[in-house]
Amino acid sequence: MLRKLFTAAVFILLANVAVAQYNPLIIPDTISGTTFNLALRDTFKQFLTGNQTITAGINGNFWGPTLIFRKGDTVHINVRSYMNDSTTLHWHGMHLPAVMDGGPHQIIPPGTLWQPYWLVKNQAATYWYHPHLHTMSEQQMTMGLGGFIIVRDSAEGALALPRTYGVDDIPLALTSRSFDASNAFVYVNRHYGDTCLVNGTLHPQVTLPKQFVRLRLLNAENERAYNLGFSDNRNFYIIGNDGGLLNAPVTANRIKIGVGERAEIMVDLGSDAVGSTLELMAYNAGQEFGFGGGEPNTTGAFGSLLNNRNFNVLHIIVGATTSSPVTAVPAALATNTYLTAADATVNRTLLVTDGTPGGAPFQFDHTIFNFTTINKTVNLGATEKWTVINNNVFGHAFHIHDVEFKIVSRSSHPVGAYESGWKDTYYLQVNDTVSFVARFDDYADAIHPFMYHCHFAPHEDGGMMQQFVVVDNTGVGNIEKPSGDYTVYPNPATMRIYFNFTDPSMQVYYVTITNSVGRTMCMLPRPQLGTGIDISNYAPGIYFVQLIDEKTKTTITKKFVKE
Ligand code: C2O
Ligand code: CU
Repeated sequence: MLRKLFTAAVFILLANVAVAQYNPLIIPDTISGTTFNLALRDTFKQFLTGNQTITAGINGNFWGPTLIFRKGDTVHINVRSYMNDSTTLHWHGMHLPAVMDGGPHQIIPPGTLWQPYWLVKNQAATYWYHPHLHTMSEQQMTMGLGGFIIVRDSAEGALALPRTYGVDDIPLALTSRSFDASNAFVYVNRHYGDTCLVNGTLHPQVTLPKQFVRLRLLNAENERAYNLGFSDNRNFYIIGNDGGLLNAPVTANRIKIGVGERAEIMVDLGSDAVGSTLELMAYNAGQEFGFGGGEPNTTGAFGSLLNNRNFNVLHIIVGATTSSPVTAVPAALATNTYLTAADATVNRTLLVTDGTPGGAPFQFDHTIFNFTTINKTVNLGATEKWTVINNNVFGHAFHIHDVEFKIVSRSSHPVGAYESGWKDTYYLQVNDTVSFVARFDDYADAIHPFMYHCHFAPHEDGGMMQQFVVVDNTGVGNIEKPSGDYTVYPNPATMRIYFNFTDPSMQVYYVTITNSVGRTMCMLPRPQLGTGIDISNYAPGIYFVQLIDEKTKTTITKKFVKE
C-alpha cells in the first residue's frame, strides 16, 4: 500500500514538473487496402522504470493498428489469436452481418484464425475495435486490446479537411491506468486509472503544425467520462461524431465524451507562435453526480487520483506550418437526412434497474444478460424508437450494435450539438430519458444476435447487456431441411482442402475446423470456398470440419486427415 502511494506520488510530481518528462505521443501504425492481418498477443511493455507491465497488443505490445477502410470496399480481416485466453474482436459502430460482428458469441479460442469480412457501408467517421468476451471485457481492454478504424468515403474526401494521418489528423484514444508495486495494471476492483494514457503513451506530448488540425477523439475508458477543452479556453469546431460528419461545424470550448463515444474536432493553431505550447485538458472537476470519474474518492473500487479534478491529457507544441495547410473550417460538411420520431413504427422502452444483490450492479428491465435469451426481435427494415430511462443512482454509456441512430430527445437537457449527428453510443445521465431512432437495414439473422449494453466495462461484464435479432419475415433464417451434404477432398490432404456439395446452390454459413482434441484451428463466417481452405501449416493428424448450412443452420461434420 505504501509502495502504491509512493508510486502515485512520484507520478503527480512528474506530471507537474518539467517538459523533459513528456513522452512523444504514440501514433498507431495504419493498415489500409482490403486485407487486414491482426495478431493478438499477450506481451509486455515498458511503461515505468523497473518491471515491464504485462499487456496485450495487436501487432504490437499495446493497443493496435489503425485500420483504414474505404466505404464500398469489402474488407477481409485475418484475426489470429496467440492469446492464452479466448477473446473476441468487435467492430464498434460497423454495420455488418451479426455473424461478423465479433460480439460475445463469436469467441476466438487460443491459436485460432477468425476471418470475418464485410462490405463497408458506414459513412466516413472514426470507429474502433475491441474485445467483447462476456465477463472479460474490462480485463482484456485494460491489458491493451483495441484499435481505431477510420472509414473514408468520397463525400468526406471532397472536403478541405485535414487528413494527413499523424500530421494534421491525429487519433487520440483516451484512457487511464493504475499500476501496482510490481508495475502490473490494476483492474480487479479498480475501474479508474490514476494516470491518463493517450494511445498508450503516459504524459504524452505532440508537435502539431501551425494551422487547422483535426483530432479524432475516442473515449476508450472503462468508466471515466471526459469533459475536454484547451488550457486557454479557446474555441474549437466539432465536425463529426460516432457515425459521420455533422451537417455543419459546431463551435464549442468544451466537449463531453462518455465511454465508447467518438468525436472529431478541428482546432486552429494558425495564430499560435511556433514553439508555443497548449494543453488538451480534461475539465472533470465539479461535474454532475453520476459523471464517470466525478466521484470524490481517490482510492477503492471507484477511486482515482484523477477523479473530480482537471488534468492534462496532451501537451501540444506548435510546430511549423505544413506545405499545404488547411486554413479554414468548411461552412458545410454533410447533408445528412436524419430519422425523426415520426418515422418510427415500433416504440420500445428500456429501464435501467438495479442489479441483483451480489450479481450485476445494474441491469435493463431487471433482466441480466443471458447468452440463450433473445431479449428483442426486430423486423428487417423496421424503423424503431428506443427510449432508455435512467432514474438510477449512476450515469451509463448506452451502446447498440448494427446501427447508427439519431438521438431525438433527452430529458435532462436539449440534445447537445456534440451529439446531433449519427450516433451508436451516448452518455446517459442520472435522471435522464433519452430516445433515439434507428433503421435496422440489410442484415437479418435469426440465429446470431446483436448486442445492446452499457459500455462501462464493469457494468457490461456484470450483465448490463441484452441481445436482439433482426429477422426477415420473408422466411430467411427460418428452419428448413438441410439443402444438401458435402464431401471434403482430397482426403488425406497436404496443402488445401476443397468441398464438393451435393446441392450446388447450398450456401455455407460458417465453417469451423477443429483438431482431434477439439482445439479450434480456424473459424470462417460465410466463407467463399471456391479456392479451398489452406491447411498447409496444420500438424499431421485427424481434423474435423463443422460446416453450417445457411438456410437451415444445421451443422454437418466431416473428418479429414492432414498428411
Ligand atoms: Cu464497443 Cu458492444 O461494444
Ligand atoms: Cu452502466
